[in-house]
Amino acid sequence: MYRTHTCGELRPAHAGQTVTVSGWVNRRRDHGGVVFFDLRDRAGLVQITINPDLPKEMLELVASVRFEWVLQIEGLVHNRPTGNENPNMATGEIEIVAKNVTVLNPAKILPFMVSSDADLPDENTRLKYRYLDLRRERLTKNMVLRHKVIKFMRDYLDKQGFIEIETPIMFKATPEGARDYLVPSRIYPGQFYALPQSPQQLKQLLMVAGMDKYFQIARCFRDEDLRGDRQPEFTQLDLEMSYVHRDDVLALVEGLFTEMLPAVAPHKKVLSSPWPKFSYKEVMEKYGSDKPDLRFGMELVDVSDVFAKSEFKVFQSTLESGGVIKCVVAPKSAEMSRKELDGLTEVAKTFGAKGMPYMAITAEGMKGGIAKFVTEEEFAALKSKTGAGAGDLIVFATDSRAVVNKTLGGLRLWFREKLDLADKSMMAFAWVVDFPFFAWNEEEQKWESEHHPFTMPKMEDLPKFDTNPGEVYSDAYDMVCNGYETASGSIRIHRRDIQMKMFQMLGLSDEDIQAKFGHMLEAFEYGAPPHGGMAPGIDRLVMLLADEPNIREVIAFPKNQNGRDVMADAPSEVEPKQLKELHIKFN
Ligand code: AMO
Repeated sequence: MYRTHTCGELRPAHAGQTVTVSGWVNRRRDHGGVVFFDLRDRAGLVQITINPDLPKEMLELVASVRFEWVLQIEGLVHNRPTGNENPNMATGEIEIVAKNVTVLNPAKILPFMVSSDADLPDENTRLKYRYLDLRRERLTKNMVLRHKVIKFMRDYLDKQGFIEIETPIMFKATPEGARDYLVPSRIYPGQFYALPQSPQQLKQLLMVAGMDKYFQIARCFRDEDLRGDRQPEFTQLDLEMSYVHRDDVLALVEGLFTEMLPAVAPHKKVLSSPWPKFSYKEVMEKYGSDKPDLRFGMELVDVSDVFAKSEFKVFQSTLESGGVIKCVVAPKSAEMSRKELDGLTEVAKTFGAKGMPYMAITAEGMKGGIAKFVTEEEFAALKSKTGAGAGDLIVFATDSRAVVNKTLGGLRLWFREKLDLADKSMMAFAWVVDFPFFAWNEEEQKWESEHHPFTMPKMEDLPKFDTNPGEVYSDAYDMVCNGYETASGSIRIHRRDIQMKMFQMLGLSDEDIQAKFGHMLEAFEYGAPPHGGMAPGIDRLVMLLADEPNIREVIAFPKNQNGRDVMADAPSEVEPKQLKELHIKFN
């Protein structure tokens, strides 16, 4: 038997027992004849004490042991002498006094230390040796947390009458707005499977099949530009329900996370329960983002009326051309240096703004920036509308509503970082509902679906489909948390005529529609029940619960920021024979 107990589970109650544990040498200390090891397994650390009265050969073996060797220790659990307890270790009240030491496997010197987070190498080295990186307590904890989250989801949904159904990975393109990963077919030259960007079509077909309440811990594949919160393959809690309206789906998901939090991450607080619900228009106006971070204020304020008669040219011309003037108030920032403000202006420009008017408020009144153009009357109105006071900095954006919101939304997050405005222990969950149905693609001069093409438009907006697509809203919803989109869903189209219309609006020809989505349209003709669902992104949620800065930290074997698996070195070339079988030639 390799072990009777895990290292991390031993407590004073085990004192007096002879136990066997196996694990890695996390640390060793030599104290004049007595050697101490901290032995580590997934469950934690335990102190092993090697007294000099062991046989000589064993002491020689012990002398040769280095970091990360795998040992098996048989020994007696002792309570540590008073004063020698280690309150920082869960097993800190006991030690194992070794009777027998076996080396199960020695180890080379590791490319980096795994016993602490100090001196970590660059991320690519960590990813190359991910199996070592995962030995670190922090990553081990993340894996355990991820497991708990997924287990909670399964148990919760099972209790609510959902069944878990697997859907194929090799399927047909399902548009979610990214490029597909394709799998060439050997049997059908020139034909490809597509890896699902999500199980969207399949879960809807499961509703047509009568499965009623479905879920799946689903792997999704998207060839898109990578970011900290995006991986080419990621995991969703994908779910779908029949005979539901929007609020039924929201209640289910809110219930799931409300119960989950105390069970898996009790140190996290929820900002408001029930979760607030905003329309898309509202969050864009107030926070300049469709995934607002609600952990701090700094809301965007429309001050166009305050400056209706302004002498300031930029304000005048903005209002004349139909634009708006909005601002945010940055607390305790009146003293920002000219250099910092110039830097911030450059940040504002990355969001499309042409400049960044600002002014500070000191005990004496307005100061700097555009203060000289602002009348006392305007200043009074500005203060009363924004609540700004001495010590604050007011930053303006003047442009079309869309550019203004985007700019101030971006600056708001810049100040969040600079001023440390967001409470890290807080989970600020919220719903965003009533999204526009279409988004205009300026580059390609065509309408695209804002969510995905299976989303139900608001029935009352149907007549505007042909006349004013930009004014059509949908029954789509997002769950947001701390500035991230953590889930997305919608009530679906279940009628062939509406689905057909939707595809046509997206510029698909009838042949295209038939070739790509014929199976969906046909299914809708055989009694498709009304249905809707949602898909929380598990990686993003675990990242937030684990206080990690990106989702790679909560995925066992992620791709690096350039989409490579640096451990196995993938993607990689394949044998010419394989290419031949797949009928592939390079150009
Ligand atoms: P959507 O495309 O919005 O919706 O995805 C749902 C959620 O999945 C997460 N997510 C990602 N996580 C990591 N890396 C990525 N590349 C990535 N892309 C998305 C996000 C997002 O909110 N079929 C629909 C859902 C539905 O309508 O039911 C869908 O996939 O947290």
